[in-house]
Amino acid sequence: MGAGDPSMGNWRHGGLVIREARPDDLDAVDQLERGSFTSDRVSRRSLRDFLRAPHRPVIAATVDGELAGYALVSLRKGARRVRIYSIAVDQRFARRGVGRALLQACEHYARRHGRGALTLEVRYDNAPAIALYESLGFRLFGEHAHYYADGGTALRYQKSLVPGARPEPQDGRPPGEDGRAPRRAARGRTL
Ligand SMILES: CC(C)(COP(=O)(O)OP(=O)(O)OC[C@H]1O[C@@H](n2cnc3c(N)ncnc32)[C@H](O)[C@@H]1OP(=O)(O)O)[C@@H](O)C(=O)NCCC(=O)NCCS
Repeated sequence: MGAGDPSMGNWRHGGLVIREARPDDLDAVDQLERGSFTSDRVSRRSLRDFLRAPHRPVIAATVDGELAGYALVSLRKGARRVRIYSIAVDQRFARRGVGRALLQACEHYARRHGRGALTLEVRYDNAPAIALYESLGFRLFGEHAHYYADGGTALRYQKSLVPGARPEPQDGRPPGEDGRAPRRAARGRTL
């Protein structure tokens, strides 16, 4: 790991570059989103809005200038935790550490915004993603039955960024940080 602006969480490793996504990444991010999820995808319109948002909630991973993966985080005002809303890696770049690098960038993002934890939802049968999260120290802390469009259960994972802190118990509210139902785009997917 070497160059890049550490304050932005950007870094390079071999051909892999992690950086803030920009509005002109829209086509590539949208294509990746559509190629990675079969239902309840984040719409192109939402992606466009996220890519323009001043707090830069979309993180891009590129290899030789090509989008290899992306992560989208939700940063709610006043929330203690940053929620990882979507993460996907192009199959052509699978198992090369891109997903891990994106999650580390999400951690960096959360710390940079003074948040103490990361949370996410993952479909109960998404074994590759669960293995990835657990390998990075995410811990199961709850679940939501009938979370996905087909009735599948979502497992809720959390990673504390504060040394020694215990994961917060499930509060029984839906996964929106403030208890509001999350956008439909996030419900039916494998996140
Ligand atoms: C899940 C996903 C993001 C992983 O991305 P990736 O770049 O291939 O993952 P990495 O190369 O960083 O893998 C890191 C670790 O995750 C685990 N892992 C990743 N893919 C795995 C697989 N297919 N089977 C088992 N473990 C896997 C392994 O522990 C791996 O470490 P290792 O390669 O040293 O064994 C990717 O498969 C993906 O985009 N899937 C489709 C979209 C999706 O399901 N997103 C998650 C929604 S919750």
